[in-house]
Amino acid sequence: MKETVFSGVKPTSIPHIGNYIGALRQWVELQKDYNCYYCIVDDHAITVPQDPKMLREQIYAIAATYLAVGIDPKKSTLFLQSDVAQHTELGWLLMTQTKMGELSRMTQYKDKSKKTGSESAGVGLFAYPVLMAADILLYDTNKVPVGHDQMQHIEFTRFLARRFNEKFGQTFVLPQPLIQKVGARIMSLKDPSKKMSKSDESGAGTIMLTDEDDVIQKKIMRAVTDSTAGISYDPEKKPAVSNLMSIYHHVTGDTMKKIEDDFGGKGYGDFKKALAEVLIAHLSPIRTKINEYLKNPKELNKILDEGFEKAHPIAEKKVRAVKDKMGLAR
Ligand code: TYM
Repeated sequence: MKETVFSGVKPTSIPHIGNYIGALRQWVELQKDYNCYYCIVDDHAITVPQDPKMLREQIYAIAATYLAVGIDPKKSTLFLQSDVAQHTELGWLLMTQTKMGELSRMTQYKDKSKKTGSESAGVGLFAYPVLMAADILLYDTNKVPVGHDQMQHIEFTRFLARRFNEKFGQTFVLPQPLIQKVGARIMSLKDPSKKMSKSDESGAGTIMLTDEDDVIQKKIMRAVTDSTAGISYDPEKKPAVSNLMSIYHHVTGDTMKKIEDDFGGKGYGDFKKALAEVLIAHLSPIRTKINEYLKNPKELNKILDEGFEKAHPIAEKKVRAVKDKMGLAR
């Protein structure tokens, strides 16, 4: 029997090339050998304020993106988290098994709540890793392909699952993260000490999958570089150019050695020009497909309905088993 893969993207904006290189590209490959669940995790999006109209548009944008990058609904289960109520139900059941201190230690919560202070941080934001654990554990997931920033959440999921199994008897499979060696942390083009992020305010540090060719060109040409010259891969000493090389590597398949050989004697300007060219060639067909899918919401709804039909019975069975173990079921 095939092993199970689960992963998701929050519909808080159009995905960027960090999401694509760190997560989505792996998902496409995994479809060959695994039973894959790819979820649009909208319940997670509302842990921070959202405009309802925009949120709904972004849900469709993520569905269109999944299809445009090559997720095949005939092979994989593509669905919307809030359609399957068992995600929030298992989230609650697991929350009762979680300690405040365990969640206070999560780095993403610490970072995000710094802005508002913990008194004003949402309870949903605080409890978010438990909902993520529920997403993963509902489907007996073996592998979770994600970027590096999700590592701590997956470790927490394993910890929670192990403790539940010890207390109530074998119930959950312990999942493993699948994190790539290069590209698991694509950095901002404007500040290579920060990860590329949907919440980058100016947008100049982030390339969205729907950016037009000229916008991609501009953002790459204006990307910051390092103080020392030369194209060589050294994320510690040359974080900016190493980040650009990671993107180049993912788009072309060239090794770092080949990129160093090809551009070794050249300046940053030449390398950026070449990067913009290969990136545009790679992203423009994806952008065209996203726009085509977005014109056909009926088709997207049909795919999400079919995904629901496949995911729901599995999730329902797992929640019934959990409730039974905990003494809730009649
Ligand atoms: P989200 O929506 O922030 O990001 C989606 C995926 O993109 C990866 N990623 C990156 N990878 C490389 N470089 C970057 N700069 C970069 N930025 C984002 C993320 O690691 C992620 O894999 N909590 C999750 C969503 C989630 C989930 C789940 C994931 C909810 N339930 C269950 C896996 C399994 C999140 O906020 O991802």
